[in-house]
Amino acid sequence: MDPIIVTGASGAMGSEAVKALAKAGRPVWMACRNLEKGERVRRSVLAAVPSASLELKQLDLGSFASIRAFVAGLPEGQRFSGLFNNAGTQCRRFSTSEDGLERTLAVNYVGPYLLTRLLLPFLTEGAVVVNMVSLSTWVAKLDWHSFEADEKAFGQVKSYAASKLALALFTVSLEEEARRKGLKLSVNMADPGIVDTPIIHMDRWYDRLCDKIFRPLCKTPAQGAAAAVNALLHPEVSGVLCTSGWKGKSFRHKPFPQRYVSHPLRTWIWDETATRCHFRR
Ligand SMILES: NC(=O)c1ccc[n+]([C@@H]2O[C@H](COP(=O)([O-])OP(=O)(O)OC[C@H]3O[C@@H](n4cnc5c(N)ncnc54)[C@H](OP(=O)(O)O)[C@@H]3O)[C@@H](O)[C@H]2O)c1
Repeated sequence: MDPIIVTGASGAMGSEAVKALAKAGRPVWMACRNLEKGERVRRSVLAAVPSASLELKQLDLGSFASIRAFVAGLPEGQRFSGLFNNAGTQCRRFSTSEDGLERTLAVNYVGPYLLTRLLLPFLTEGAVVVNMVSLSTWVAKLDWHSFEADEKAFGQVKSYAASKLALALFTVSLEEEARRKGLKLSVNMADPGIVDTPIIHMDRWYDRLCDKIFRPLCKTPAQGAAAAVNALLHPEVSGVLCTSGWKGKSFRHKPFPQRYVSHPLRTWIWDETATRCHFRR
């Protein structure tokens, strides 16, 4: 079977997704920004699942050059049965990517957009794309200036939420595009809930308090990753938001929420992102 790419495979949920996919007998390409960290995860997954087939690859989603190099370096005839856009960041302070975008937007949305569109020709019939969204989209706002890297407009949670909303809108548009083109591709989003991982560390005075009171109430990384893994293993389902119960065991597949489907900027952001990342159809 063709491998599944997992981005951010060195992270808390990424590594659990790799382990769960390996347990299900699926070969995985672990796409990691930091290869040393990725190698540690690769070894720990191999220790748990000795039969796992794991390839470790370098990929920085905050860099168009890195994304293009990743795709350009694919061996002749390489195909994938899935892509899990899991990597994400929540920058504490304003900074820009090497391409001049606000970094959270670059890593969480523009990078996955470019990667996914470049990889489409490498996905086999029946392949699955799963994008990791977040509850934060409930408070998110996008506007015509969302691509301008503006320090005044930046906010840690605000920019993170906007990037995840952009990713959700992309997921809806990609699913539509796949249907319009008659591609046998399943496109879904997964929301893990609130999960005890490094990304929820806010780098603020109240972190230590939250670590004591709040973190024990969160899902574990394995429970958080379960909804996305379930979606990756079920190519027959498309156009849904996947969630799981608190223990990461019972799964729900709901049609894409209307607040994404009918978002007024959905078509604009699809086209504008292609321009910003120099994606040629
Ligand atoms: N935890 C939650 O409550 C929660 C809720 C909703 C959604 N999510 C989403 O779930 C996904 C996984 O996050 P997590 O909670 O497992 O946190 P995590 O442990 O911090 O994992 C984040 C992963 O993204 C990678 N990453 C960051 N910047 C990158 C870049 N420029 N290029 C490539 N990879 C990069 C990290 O790589 P390094 O190891 O090199 O840093 C890490 O592997 C994220 O998309 C996050 O937004 C999390």
